[in-house]
Amino acid sequence: MKQIGRLWFDYVAPETYLRLFEEILKGEEKFPEGFTVLDLACGFPPPKEKTLKRETPLASSAQEILEKMGARIIGLDISLTALEEQKKMGREAVLGDAFSLPFKNDSLDACLIYNLTNATFKSPIGGTEIPISKEEIKVILEEVFRVLKPGGFVIVNQFGYAWFESKFGHSTTTLLVDKIVPLEVIKKLAEEIGFKNIKSLPFSKERLKKGEELILESFPLPPSVIEDLGFRLIRKEAGAFYMEK
Ligand SMILES: C[S@@+](CC[C@H](N)C(=O)[O-])C[C@H]1O[C@@H](n2cnc3c(N)ncnc32)[C@H](O)[C@@H]1O
Repeated sequence: MKQIGRLWFDYVAPETYLRLFEEILKGEEKFPEGFTVLDLACGFPPPKEKTLKRETPLASSAQEILEKMGARIIGLDISLTALEEQKKMGREAVLGDAFSLPFKNDSLDACLIYNLTNATFKSPIGGTEIPISKEEIKVILEEVFRVLKPGGFVIVNQFGYAWFESKFGHSTTTLLVDKIVPLEVIKKLAEEIGFKNIKSLPFSKERLKKGEELILESFPLPPSVIEDLGFRLIRKEAGAFYMEK
């Protein structure tokens, strides 16, 4: 029961973030001197020629917007490759673990958690991919709460998916995607930890549609042909929320 799957990798809506940051700035052009944003599990945007045929809106655009607004960005990741790429882009890069952040209490102004809470992990020699569990997300959020200054903000984002599932039954990937902790559950956890002013961030419907089209274009065959072969299209929309300590 073969399945063709594609992650809707790295999809965010830069306009949503631009508007949000402008709102946070309350009319000021720049964040105050030293305003420090942790990009938790920063990864790195794949080079354009290696992604989809057309230019895609990347998660890194939030970093770029914040940088232009005067923020200092610290990218943290457990992958050295990701950090090397961040450095090539001229950013500060810290090797660290999201479960035990190498920062002092109340020391950072903001934190981006992009596409981590729905990420899956696989060993280099193969095996089943494992999505982060609710319990693990709780530990990560507690760590972020600890290192943020009171009033500091966090954005959590999850990319969407577009994939094909066999009409004749479930496949492991579908079951795996079902295990991804939904944003609504993460918001509840955040509230229990003490985060406040939790609000969903709207993504542009147009961009969501375009993103899905880009993914579908990257499949080896046109969607109609794949469907004729006995598969059906499954979708999961991207989403994001904002909160404060
Ligand atoms: C799906 S990628 C998202 C990357 C980036 N934030 C983005 O939106 O494009 C997930 C990232 O989490 C990193 N990661 C996985 N486990 C981690 C951990 N325990 N601590 C820090 N980073 C971790 C991976 O190395 C990878 O770069």
